[in-house]
Amino acid sequence: MSGRIDTVHVALGARAYDVRIGAGLIQRAGEEIRPLLRRPRVAVITDETVGPLHLDALRAGLGDIAMTALALPAGEATKGWPEFSRAVEWLLSEKVERKDVVVAFGGGVIGDLVGFASAVLRRGVRFVQIPTTLLAQVDSSVGGKTGINSAHGKNLIGALHQPALVLADIEVLGTLAPRDFLAGYGEVVKYGLLGDAAFFDWLEAHGPSAAQGDLAARQHAVTHSVTMKARIVERDETEEGERALLNLGHTFCHALEAATGYSDRLLHGEGVAIGCALAFELSQRLGLCSQEAPSRVRAHLKAMGMKCDLADIPGELPGAERLIALMGQDKKVVDGRLRFILARGIGEAFVADGVDMAVVRTVLEEALAGR
Ligand code: GLY
Repeated sequence: MSGRIDTVHVALGARAYDVRIGAGLIQRAGEEIRPLLRRPRVAVITDETVGPLHLDALRAGLGDIAMTALALPAGEATKGWPEFSRAVEWLLSEKVERKDVVVAFGGGVIGDLVGFASAVLRRGVRFVQIPTTLLAQVDSSVGGKTGINSAHGKNLIGALHQPALVLADIEVLGTLAPRDFLAGYGEVVKYGLLGDAAFFDWLEAHGPSAAQGDLAARQHAVTHSVTMKARIVERDETEEGERALLNLGHTFCHALEAATGYSDRLLHGEGVAIGCALAFELSQRLGLCSQEAPSRVRAHLKAMGMKCDLADIPGELPGAERLIALMGQDKKVVDGRLRFILARGIGEAFVADGVDMAVVRTVLEEALAGR
């Protein structure tokens, strides 16, 4: 199916690019990508889940543009040195030149890894993101954060390297397992919570139909989220200030992901949703917002059938002290101090340093006791 295509321009001067959003973009990938090419060939890196489902469609969509492809194992474990090195060596063996274009075709893991490979290959080649998960379409494919994980923590090795184009084909979301769709929805909710109460109202009304497959609702949710992200990235590309708001829920999330071994006990987007609920709980505890705000956040997550409590994470979790120690590995630590994104209400998030850790501990202890 091919329908309306929205274009969100990310105005970053020499690094500006478009994010194209709509159903059927993979079918017209050749038309979309051709203006970027010096010669009619691209190197595509995907994963072993997306490849069998969508690589033939991409090959057909590229038309007379020649395509070589590498499929890496699916999953977070791919986002480390061994697969990164394999990807870079493969791109070199495929004789990808400085003016060529690399395509990242997959979810957040592929986008981050391939983006980083493109950043360092021959000191930087252009790359196109074709995100195939909701999480990647609304967050990780836009804004240029690329990288891999270290034994010391997530995303600790990387580069800021903006894509030359992003093609978010809404139709591919139809092949996502409901759990993966809902995990990505955690990042969509984040946008409403951090800066747009009216969007959160819209999500309360239309989130369920988006989850059930309504393409128009999906398109609106993705386009609105990407527009919000683009405006923030334009104002603060290197995260000197405002961009940190996009990390709402992430300080808690990264600790929970580390505590669950980055396994499928907790997907990243699920951790973001739980982290947003905890960030609002913490804000309320600190007297920053009314009790109504965290209650509304949790009510919406529950109505969507999403994880929103620590009790929703299967298996054992460490105690509050250990979770706080895991937070200390976060990139958002400044001068050894944790940085939280807190909120004065829905749509009113701000960056907070120097949060009283005794209150954080209480919030975590109570959340753990609720398990
Ligand atoms: N995912 C957060 C950011 O791009 O800044």
